[in-house]
Amino acid sequence: MMFEKRILCIGAGYVGGPTMAMIAYKCPQYKVTVVDINATKISQWNSDNLPIYEPGLDEIVRVARDRNLFFSPEIERGIKESDIIFVSVNTPTKTFGVGAGMAADLQYWEKTAREIVNCAESDKIIVEKSTLPVKTSLAMERILTSTNNGIKFDVLSNPEFLAEGTAIKDLENPDRVLIGSRETESGLRARDELVEIYANWVPREHIITSNIWSSELSKLVANAFLAQRISSINSISALCEKTDADINEVARAVGMDSRIGNKFLNASVGFGGSCFKKDILNLVYLCRDYSLEEVADYWESVIRINEYQKKRFVINMLNAMFNTLAGKRICLFGFAFKANTGDTRESPAKFVTKNLMEEQAEVIVTDPEALRNARADLEGINGKVSFVEDPYEAADGCDAIAVVTEWDTYRDLDYEKLYRSMVKPAFIFDGRNILDHKELFEIGFNVFPIGKPELTHF
Ligand code: NAD
Ligand code: UGA
Repeated sequence: MMFEKRILCIGAGYVGGPTMAMIAYKCPQYKVTVVDINATKISQWNSDNLPIYEPGLDEIVRVARDRNLFFSPEIERGIKESDIIFVSVNTPTKTFGVGAGMAADLQYWEKTAREIVNCAESDKIIVEKSTLPVKTSLAMERILTSTNNGIKFDVLSNPEFLAEGTAIKDLENPDRVLIGSRETESGLRARDELVEIYANWVPREHIITSNIWSSELSKLVANAFLAQRISSINSISALCEKTDADINEVARAVGMDSRIGNKFLNASVGFGGSCFKKDILNLVYLCRDYSLEEVADYWESVIRINEYQKKRFVINMLNAMFNTLAGKRICLFGFAFKANTGDTRESPAKFVTKNLMEEQAEVIVTDPEALRNARADLEGINGKVSFVEDPYEAADGCDAIAVVTEWDTYRDLDYEKLYRSMVKPAFIFDGRNILDHKELFEIGFNVFPIGKPELTHF
């Protein structure tokens, strides 16, 4: 079969997999191939057991796979055979050398650029899908034009705004698609080609274009603003706990101002996920690099409040349970960094578990999708930790339940039954404010929500 375009994506992770599945699903006229250095991941993408959990993903992969969507370990061949290459490799925070703990680690990304230049035999459009520091595309261009082999590359920036757990919905119906390009004739032509791909299903008024640096920067800033809202509401949750104000009531009153809006105002045990912290650190690092110390300090405080919120959650548990957790059994409801994903990267659950274990508590973890990752995350950790699928079994004989992930299933459990099976006095720490606190209190629990008065029987 002849395809209209041959699209390649390097990196078959949380972004590469779902975004390419959506393009292939919506555009049967294009051939879409996804490659990765991790051959196990590629075989999982080719199986019935996909490497990531995302509602709706299985269905669209089932439709498109082997029709016009292909997962392959053959990177070199993929590069040779494609016209457009999306680069969607991981760009974690650097753990070594200059900028360790702050700057983006660009080694995976640079390796990809070199692979492209070494294998390409025809002109190509390169699309930065990964989140990268501003001006990275300049470095990409320099590597790509370093060989003088007559092949022309146009580099575009097309950051991804999907959120995990709602990736398919976000990809199908995005608030906006952003495409940044050079303002040269060939840059604009490449840009228009990418616009046409998205225009297969995204309304044109939602596809916006900009210069390439604005595009790179907008991605970091969007994540920084989102995280800032969470840190703002979380900082106020601490004040609510001291003043008997109720954070939900405050969030509602504030969010009804249409200039502020009501989204992303759920107080929590803290934000997690692979990107918020990493991207803010990246932004902070950039600002320091340009000697914008005040700007850097401002954004860094978003992360400081998040660390404080996670710490506060554990300290509240310790204080409530008579200042000792040694030997107590604590059940974590949820380990994923948010509901509807199995992803545990930067999950507050990891912080909570480690700190509880330092207090010599025994931790029992339950989660509907994230136990495989939880086990890997906690491998080799000192102390008693176990993993139990069934939440009733997990909480049996425990002194406390801590809700860390807002899975719907935890809203509807039989809390009378849970209460009967637990050690008394029984405690619930609702790190997501998803439970009916009054009802739990009436059952007999001592209840500690976030940013609301505690309900105790002492
Ligand atoms: P991920 O770790 O899930 O996937 C990255 C994949 O790239 C891995 O499978 C890895 O094996 C592969 N890879 C690394 N180097 C490679 C190479 N040289 N050749 C081929 N494959 C290679 O990461 P992710 O969560 O998909 O994130 C990718 C990028 O997208 C990051 O920059 C991230 O900031 C950004 N992003 C992520 C999300 C999200 O929700 N996870 C959302 C928006 C943007
Ligand atoms: C976030 C952004 O929402 C995406 O737009 C972006 O593309 C992505 O990062 C990225 O660049 O990786 P994601 O991290 O998948 O997406 O999930 P979010 O829904 O943003 O949640 C992040 C964290 O904030 C979670 O731990 C969540 O529980 C927490 N959160 C969210 C709150 O504590 N309160 C809220 O009101 C909202």
